[in-house]
Amino acid sequence: STARITIDPHFTVGAINRRLFGSFVEHLGRCVYDGIYEPGHDTADADGFRQDVIELVKELGVSAIRYPGGNFVSGFRWEDSVGPKSERPRRLDLAWHSTETNEVGLHEFSSWLDKVDSELMLAVNLGTRGTLEALDLLEYSNIASGTARADERAANGKTDAFGVKMWCLGNEMDGPWQLGHRSADDYGKLASQTAKAMRQIDPSLELVVCGSSSAQMPTFGEWERVVLSHSYDDVDYISCHAYYEEKNGDLGSFLASAVNMDHFIDSVVATADHVKAVKGSDKTINISFDEWNVWYLDRYHQVDKIEGVDNWPIAPRILEDVYSVADAVVFGNLMISLLKHADRVTSASLAQLVNVIAPIMTEPGGPAWRQTTFFPFALTSRLAQGQALEVKLESETYTTEVYGEAALVDAVATHDAETGRSAVFLVNRSQSEPTTVTIDISALGAVSVLDAQTLSDDDVYAKNTLDDPERVGLSANDSAVVGDGTITVTLPAVSWTAIELG
Ligand code: AHR
Repeated sequence: STARITIDPHFTVGAINRRLFGSFVEHLGRCVYDGIYEPGHDTADADGFRQDVIELVKELGVSAIRYPGGNFVSGFRWEDSVGPKSERPRRLDLAWHSTETNEVGLHEFSSWLDKVDSELMLAVNLGTRGTLEALDLLEYSNIASGTARADERAANGKTDAFGVKMWCLGNEMDGPWQLGHRSADDYGKLASQTAKAMRQIDPSLELVVCGSSSAQMPTFGEWERVVLSHSYDDVDYISCHAYYEEKNGDLGSFLASAVNMDHFIDSVVATADHVKAVKGSDKTINISFDEWNVWYLDRYHQVDKIEGVDNWPIAPRILEDVYSVADAVVFGNLMISLLKHADRVTSASLAQLVNVIAPIMTEPGGPAWRQTTFFPFALTSRLAQGQALEVKLESETYTTEVYGEAALVDAVATHDAETGRSAVFLVNRSQSEPTTVTIDISALGAVSVLDAQTLSDDDVYAKNTLDDPERVGLSANDSAVVGDGTITVTLPAVSWTAIELG
């Protein structure tokens, strides 16, 4: 089949905030322990962090990293994770039915962030704790000196404040699984009070209030309206979380997952703007899409879930999804969706970073490798600079069970006026046919294709594993050629492509 796209640098959606390329590290499974941190590993540095993982995280190009949860944060006492390691208590982590050793805490994680050049985005526990504990953590993190908490931090080895800007007011408080799950009214009031109190310490903080855990939640839409009606003036962002998986062998619907993400974002924007109108406010609330990925959640419930009063393992192998080419194509398409909404989605976190539903996998005492999803993230993070552009797209459609008619091709473009470079990101959702796309680039002036890379495979379920860690990768797409004000490129069936122009 064929498709047509028109790009014009004047058709801007919005500036791309680097925070769009954030990720998420939760104390969950082997994300921290036996993931980023493995003191006995050959590559471990003096602090016990694996340098092979550090190199891969840098290559991935992640901006801010959300920490320490997730569901974990709703049972977390942050004080446990600071001070001399030998005195830190072991705790039950109820969210993941594990033992938390607290060997890695705020100080260690912050020093790891320095090594990977990423910003800390901290979540406070509004599940089993409240405003006072959030204030204590903020004082500990951000006050330079001269108060009990600031001095405690200094005594624990960090004289300078951590200076954390982005704060999440709890996690998934709409979810019945969440410790301290609340109604929208109760949570909205608590979030508003906590945000106001935190701003009494520092008005310049950027605060994220919890939106829905997914667009499928029964309270979706109403949750956002009620929570924001209480907290609109106090926060800067509302969060979105979305995970997608292929269900019942329906690859066609799975490949169109970004249709759902587009709709999800549009609905939350509409709801936030509704509250804005009702309040007559001048302020606009943006979205922090602070959990997104492909996640085979059914597998978690059926295989990974740990139970037993006497069974609380340390760093168990849970949520270790192994991603296929098809998963990576959907994943790349989710990034296209985020970019298409760059005006309102100004922060996002890929959930998660290492071992747990992650682009990077590790084996204790062994290697670290890139999952299929690593490639679209790394390339999008590197190439998507400047402004996100709205593209005029004409594509054939196909019928999906879940989303009705969906376009076969989806795309977004970016343009950086400073460097003159542009990029186009595309997916072909067809399972049977390549699609030749003609891209009208006449408005960009004289440009050439600097690079074109495609992720595809004859076996859409091919994966990178410990035994075969480089089975899947990007390959140069030599079909991308410039004609008279156009580029034509052929996208293989079930593929993701990035084209760099300059
Ligand atoms: O990312 C895994 C889990 O998914 C997080 O802990 C939780 O917030 C979400 O349900």
